[in-house]
Amino acid sequence: MKTPMILTAVLATTAILVGGYGQLQPANAQQEADWKPVWTADGELQLPTGYREWVYLGSPLTPNALNGGAAGFPEYHNVYMHPEVFKIYQETKVFPEGTILLKELQLTLSSDEDDGSSYEVSGRGYFPGPYNGIDIAVKDSTRFSDSKNWGYFNFGHHAPPYAETAAAAPTAACAQCHIDNASADMVFTKFYQILDAE
Ligand code: HEC
Repeated sequence: MKTPMILTAVLATTAILVGGYGQLQPANAQQEADWKPVWTADGELQLPTGYREWVYLGSPLTPNALNGGAAGFPEYHNVYMHPEVFKIYQETKVFPEGTILLKELQLTLSSDEDDGSSYEVSGRGYFPGPYNGIDIAVKDSTRFSDSKNWGYFNFGHHAPPYAETAAAAPTAACAQCHIDNASADMVFTKFYQILDAE
């Protein structure tokens, strides 16, 4: 009786190990596939899905009323990063190859006040309204070696639905301003306290 029982145990353990290993590889590959950019055959970037559940980095706001009535982006600029990339950044303080920073624009609630502010029970201020566009930055040192390893994409500056794919914008339209002004590796990290907070 003894031998078959041991044999059964060994076989079962082997099966678990083999099964576990078999699952481990695709799971890791799958995890990475979840946050890596997806490119179309002609090199356009596909709009990621599920980004509103990514790590929320912050929301710079440049209202029209404080910008001569015509801010380039008068909305909240809600910036997101995939949780796996966030984890890597926390460990290395480096944006890994394939990092996507996604900025969704969100209008302030409309108002009749000269400064564009409105009143809510919490006080007078600016309050988030409808979504209004998406900009994306991707780190890829092969595709974008001419613009300090980052490419920039606009998926529409309007209410959803947004474009499903977008071509890289010319350097002069986006990258140049990031090259000239960003705080670290082309990103305005100084506005995203969560990135470097202890
Ligand atoms: C005139 C300078 C300027 C230009 C041009 C510009 N940006 Fe930015 N961008 C900024 C600044 C400043 C921030 C951070 C503060 C904010 O959002 O107001 C930012 C933030 C971003 C972010 C969030 C991550 C980060 O780097 O902080 C993305 C994504 C982004 N821009 C994409 C684009 C795209 C796409 C274009 C072109 C369509 C573009 N930007 C053009 C100045 C610029």
